[in-house]
Amino acid sequence: MKKVPCKCFAPATVANVAVGYDVLGFAIEELGDEVIIREGKEKGLKINTIRNRGKLSYDPTKNVAGYGALKMMQHLGIEDMPIEMDLNKNMPIGTGMGSSASSAVAGAFGINAFLDWPCKYHEVLRCATEAEQLADGSWHADNVAPSLYGGFVLIRDNESLDVVGLPTIPGLRAVVIYPHIKLLTKDSRDILSDKVELDQHIKQSGNLAAFVAAMYKSDIELLGRSIEDLIIEPQRAQLIPHFYDMKELAMTEGALGFSISGAGPSMFALCANSVIADNIEEGARRLFKDRGVQVTTYNSKINLEGAKKY
Ligand code: HSE
Repeated sequence: MKKVPCKCFAPATVANVAVGYDVLGFAIEELGDEVIIREGKEKGLKINTIRNRGKLSYDPTKNVAGYGALKMMQHLGIEDMPIEMDLNKNMPIGTGMGSSASSAVAGAFGINAFLDWPCKYHEVLRCATEAEQLADGSWHADNVAPSLYGGFVLIRDNESLDVVGLPTIPGLRAVVIYPHIKLLTKDSRDILSDKVELDQHIKQSGNLAAFVAAMYKSDIELLGRSIEDLIIEPQRAQLIPHFYDMKELAMTEGALGFSISGAGPSMFALCANSVIADNIEEGARRLFKDRGVQVTTYNSKINLEGAKKY
């Protein structure tokens, strides 16, 4: 097997996108985790360094990037191959921007790149999804799939990982607002009711279908009408400080839609252009500053590339 030392990047993502709980996500630019993979000296995978380590483990079975790499090595039957990994953990954990998915994809994708691409993307996707499960205990690919493939990705079925890349209306931008509070995905999932009213299901199905149609038709107005979460957002909004004030600001400034990014606490606004996005970003900074909550904002085009080798 050919071995190519490499540096790989997997981007941050916004999951759910208001209308597709656990089944829809998109990738953003610049923010994401990186791995450097090279030949090692000892048998098996070794995590050599972790930049911005926090509480992350050096044990590959307890570190999501390491586990993604390990799953890929097991899949290829090369668990004993001496491989070293450096992890640049650029993303804070528990933000709702797919931090663990970014690590999982970087690890799995990194091994595939290091071995000169022996596996197809859907094999990488499975290994990365298994690794992400280590972080929050649940099986869903709405962060992992867009981080790997880029763009908007629809998960028709999480179990079989039947995923579909969607077209993106040109010019779309996302503003992601991360208030610095801790919110674990597990806690944010645990508060959700497992029952959905039939009339909510009907409206939400209409919105999800219209969202997909809008992307195919490049119909920005239809897209704007469809971004409305009747099921998850009303249950989770209480966990996020000033959520409804921020939503009002974003919609007044002309966002196509505004909701919770993944499991929160981050929020996102989808915007038709950069002028609207800039105004929303500036407004968000002001709003949270006035209320004494520290925020970090990201103002990004949709990342159409997904994971990459530099
Ligand atoms: N779809 C997931 C959730 C994303 O909302 O819980 C979390 O990463």
